[in-house]
Amino acid sequence: MKKVYVITGATSGIGNALVKAFADDALVFAGYRNENYERDLRKISSNVIPFYIDFEKKSSIRQATAYIKSKTDRIDTLINAAGCVIAGEMTVIDPDDVRRQFEVNTFSHLDFSQRLIPLMKHVIASEHQRSSWRSRGNPDSKIINISSMSSFGVFPYVAPYCASKRALDILFNSMLLEIPPCNGGLKIVSVKPGVIVTPLWEKSIELNKNKLRNGMEFLVENARKNAKNGLDVQKVVKLIKKIDALENPKASYTIGLDAKFAEILSKLPQDWVNFIVKKGINNSLKLNY
Ligand SMILES: NC(=O)c1ccc[n+]([C@@H]2O[C@H](COP(=O)([O-])OP(=O)(O)OC[C@H]3O[C@@H](n4cnc5c(N)ncnc54)[C@H](OP(=O)(O)O)[C@@H]3O)[C@@H](O)[C@H]2O)c1
Repeated sequence: MKKVYVITGATSGIGNALVKAFADDALVFAGYRNENYERDLRKISSNVIPFYIDFEKKSSIRQATAYIKSKTDRIDTLINAAGCVIAGEMTVIDPDDVRRQFEVNTFSHLDFSQRLIPLMKHVIASEHQRSSWRSRGNPDSKIINISSMSSFGVFPYVAPYCASKRALDILFNSMLLEIPPCNGGLKIVSVKPGVIVTPLWEKSIELNKNKLRNGMEFLVENARKNAKNGLDVQKVVKLIKKIDALENPKASYTIGLDAKFAEILSKLPQDWVNFIVKKGINNSLKLNY
């Protein structure tokens, strides 16, 4: 029996690389919000089933779920990869922009996952069933969220993004703790990458072009650097394939030296973190704010 994956954000970057990595020998439901990409997804493999979902439109989450349920009664792994970056200064940012960030990066993932969980609670009836699941791979279902090193919360000017990722982690970690074992062992994993080379950064420049005041050009420069100098997306794919194959994955994985540094930094007292972050920005960007 082929494994069944559902991957959102499948048209670009990490999500798209994952669709390509899994589609050879699994059925992959691949989420797109821009219809122009539907055909590209189909071209990857006959195992790919594209579905429309826009995380800013609640009705599309309902429709996507109904569509997936009409095609399968089982999901092995749901990978929540869709996301965007909303930047801005907290003194002037429109709170609706922050709401939008949470809608796309946090609330919609919760909504979509809740609707699909009934397809993921495989009750393992017998040892025989368990060993037959083992022979084709992991016996339990998983939700793998693509969170971010931003969830460690140490980056100014992208606070909506940081907060949305932290909230995502908190909500899903609580879900993990609340699931009763009799429901068949749904595993929930947060993957926190550092900077990865994907179109996310160029898109973030476009999305935030009107939000930053003069003197903040360094944020654009930074995004442009990230678009070139990050970790190769295949490193994330490799980690996620490894996690997917584990019977008992950890609740959280940090990937990339920058992400590991942010994780360590976040453990320090807040005033120390603030001092280090301000100094880092002042030094590297010659700003005196
Ligand atoms: N790249 C990094 O450095 C990095 C680091 C840490 C975490 N992440 C996280 O990794 C995930 C994937 O990002 P990526 O780097 O692969 O970026 P990406 O190439 O921009 O891919 C993002 C995907 O999400 C989709 N998407 C955006 N807004 C959406 C919405 N409202 N509804 C439905 N789909 C939507 C995009 O669709 P379109 O193709 O139509 O835009 C695209 O398929 C994100 O959650 C991001 O926060 C990325």
